[in-house]
Amino acid sequence: MEHDTIQNRAGAGAAGELADVDEHTITALVNGRIAATAAPRLAQIVAALTRHLHDFAREVRLDEDELMAAIAFMTEVGQMSDARRQECILLSDVLGLSMLVTAQSRRKPAGCTEATVFGPFHVPDSPEHAPGDDIANGAPGAPCFVRGVVRTLDGTPVAGAKIEVWQADEAGCYDVQYAGLEQARARATLRTDAHGAYRFRSIVASPYPIPHDGPVGRLLAALGRHPWRPAHLHFMITADACEPLITHVFRAGAPYLDADAVFGVRQSLIAEWRLHPPGPGPGGVTLAQPFYTLDFDFVLNASAGVSESA
Ligand code: BEZ
Ligand code: FE
Repeated sequence: MEHDTIQNRAGAGAAGELADVDEHTITALVNGRIAATAAPRLAQIVAALTRHLHDFAREVRLDEDELMAAIAFMTEVGQMSDARRQECILLSDVLGLSMLVTAQSRRKPAGCTEATVFGPFHVPDSPEHAPGDDIANGAPGAPCFVRGVVRTLDGTPVAGAKIEVWQADEAGCYDVQYAGLEQARARATLRTDAHGAYRFRSIVASPYPIPHDGPVGRLLAALGRHPWRPAHLHFMITADACEPLITHVFRAGAPYLDADAVFGVRQSLIAEWRLHPPGPGPGGVTLAQPFYTLDFDFVLNASAGVSESA
């Protein structure tokens, strides 16, 4: 109790008197309790969060029912989250927070491939594949052959870069969204060759709705927002002495490019998926059905000097 009293006085800045708590004095009171021994970055973040949170509550004159509704919502977001369903990430994504943080912390020199949101469907240690392999592994969708080169900004090819790729199938689902599916589908780990080149076969990317059968979906509906993302392929590329790149390639002409539910589209990441009639395809295969090709080169930021490709 005595400790509280001392802290309250300090927070209110009125020596010798108990702080008079009201909706204006409470902010300094709360932040005044942060100990001088707290880690400086944590103290900075929590103090700013408190300030903005209190300003927000004052601005909208948040009432008790609304606070309880918000707490119930956050409880549900937490309870819905597990290793396969990341409702917390979804909330950050639809509020634009994920993209904001990516944009400000992954800004790269002009000419480098831009970063975008990570999303909740990356799986570490996806199966390793050889160049040209079909990584679809039974995922439904029209065949698509993807190839390109990974370089640094000065044009040097990056040999041995680790490329992780993952995507949704034509039903708009990632493999991890199918209950009981143990095998990776339409996701893989590949390595660039001595010339920095990569290639693989998969399926064409389709637009899909982010999971919207939970509290985040209800929030979107209540706001009159849709849950759709434009068709895209996810890439994570890591290489010695380069800044890791987490990005997508978006399909030109596909719906929702200008209305992504998670605000991840960047103009420089939009590319053409070319449609071909049945017949000879890349790598000497002959296809009995129409197929697509995508050519996309990546430019890594070598100046950061980060090594994470092991
Ligand atoms: C995704 O592209 O996989 C994704 C990103 C944000 C929210 C949901 C899905
Ligand atoms: Fe995705």
